[in-house]
Amino acid sequence: MSLWGGRFLDESNKLFKKFNTSLPFDYILAQEDIFASIAWSKALLETGVLTKKEQKKIEHGLISLKQDIDINPEQILKSDCEDIHTWIEINLIERIGDLGKKLHTGRSRNDQIATDLKLWCKNKIQILLKNILNLQKSFILIAERHHDVIMPGYTHLQRAQPITFAYWCLSYVEMFKRDFTRLEDALKRLDVSPLGSGALSGTAWNIDREKLAVHMGFSSSTNNALDSVSDRDYVIELLASASISMMHLSRFSEDLIFFNSSEANFIELSDSITSGSSLMPQKKNPDALELIRGKCGRVYGSLFSTLVLLKALPLSYNKDMQEDKESLFDAIKIWNDSLLISSLVLKNIKLNNLLCYEAAEKGYSNATEVADYLVKKGITFREAHHISGKIVLHAIHNNKALKDLDLSQFQEYSHLIENDIYQHITLEACLEKRVSKGGVSSKQVQEVIKKEKIRLNII
Ligand code: ARG
Repeated sequence: MSLWGGRFLDESNKLFKKFNTSLPFDYILAQEDIFASIAWSKALLETGVLTKKEQKKIEHGLISLKQDIDINPEQILKSDCEDIHTWIEINLIERIGDLGKKLHTGRSRNDQIATDLKLWCKNKIQILLKNILNLQKSFILIAERHHDVIMPGYTHLQRAQPITFAYWCLSYVEMFKRDFTRLEDALKRLDVSPLGSGALSGTAWNIDREKLAVHMGFSSSTNNALDSVSDRDYVIELLASASISMMHLSRFSEDLIFFNSSEANFIELSDSITSGSSLMPQKKNPDALELIRGKCGRVYGSLFSTLVLLKALPLSYNKDMQEDKESLFDAIKIWNDSLLISSLVLKNIKLNNLLCYEAAEKGYSNATEVADYLVKKGITFREAHHISGKIVLHAIHNNKALKDLDLSQFQEYSHLIENDIYQHITLEACLEKRVSKGGVSSKQVQEVIKKEKIRLNII
């Protein structure tokens, strides 16, 4: 069923009808469409298009429709309506009769879809913000539990300097703090109502758009109708926020996949988020994390397809824009699910403290300390770096850790090295020296955990 039959003599082609419909995916906007329609009916009452009685009847009709949809949203899919706006209007008319035909006065599906989609984004952003906070909480709780587990930190995937598991967790908390504020920022910009923009040049009815916007929970209304129905910046900003955050989640996943590998063996993932192999009985695969890593690509795809969709698109509304929804809905679901799954993974993780420690001891991750030691004895860092490199080479050739070299072997490379070198190159000493802000020392880590617990309201 369509809403625009008057000008047409022929029926729509069946294939075109199927090609043209957005109902199979925009039916999830039913709640938003009804919410905005009720608000619109109240605005029509104020302009005198509807009487009080008529507005009430329309409102009741829409509420009863909403109640039916709540019970079974999929019923919408049985219809052959062009989109959700058409479906709601036709079903309202079926319920309350010809009065339902008044609701679309002064309104267009162009400002309707812009409003519905913004309302949908606003709801989803609230859920995302909550889930980002919850993930940060999981990081802090596990950091606190394992604050003293020493492990190697990597650059180029080579053991670089020792860190702690807690410190690794806190690095992700920083990333998700940025994701949180990025989303809050996007929310501020999208929180402007386009309703009452009509098709493209404003509504011919004297609607108090500012009042209507505030009534719907927006902070204000848009300034230019032509822009309002053309604008999908908020979709792009949301997808960009999703992409950046999924990038963080994919790095988190990759780190854990590596920590969980048979080669590293630093952690053990819970049975509840891993799966087995149909052939190899010994396998326990990190599927949850691999899926986050894989789905990240799909979210980037959504961002890119929306950017391309809107590139050089003439003002104002074009049907191309209907293509913004599937990728947006898909990306937001992936982002939300990935945040939840990441929390689950963290909560059930087991650390192999000893293997973490042993790995940190291997790989000469304390070579920088030898150089710093020499700097304290008065030589330049560049020179000290060179000497330390030579000592590491010596140790590699003798298949020894630095701490296992004799003092005489150290002194072959510098007479400034004395017996106190050994206390300077323990893993603990490496960590504890880094007391400056942002460093890995337990003092810094404990302080950050304390502050984050207050911020996140963890008691
Ligand atoms: N289903 C359409 C969309 O998602 C709604 C707007 C239709 N507007 C129009 N002028 N055909 O974009």
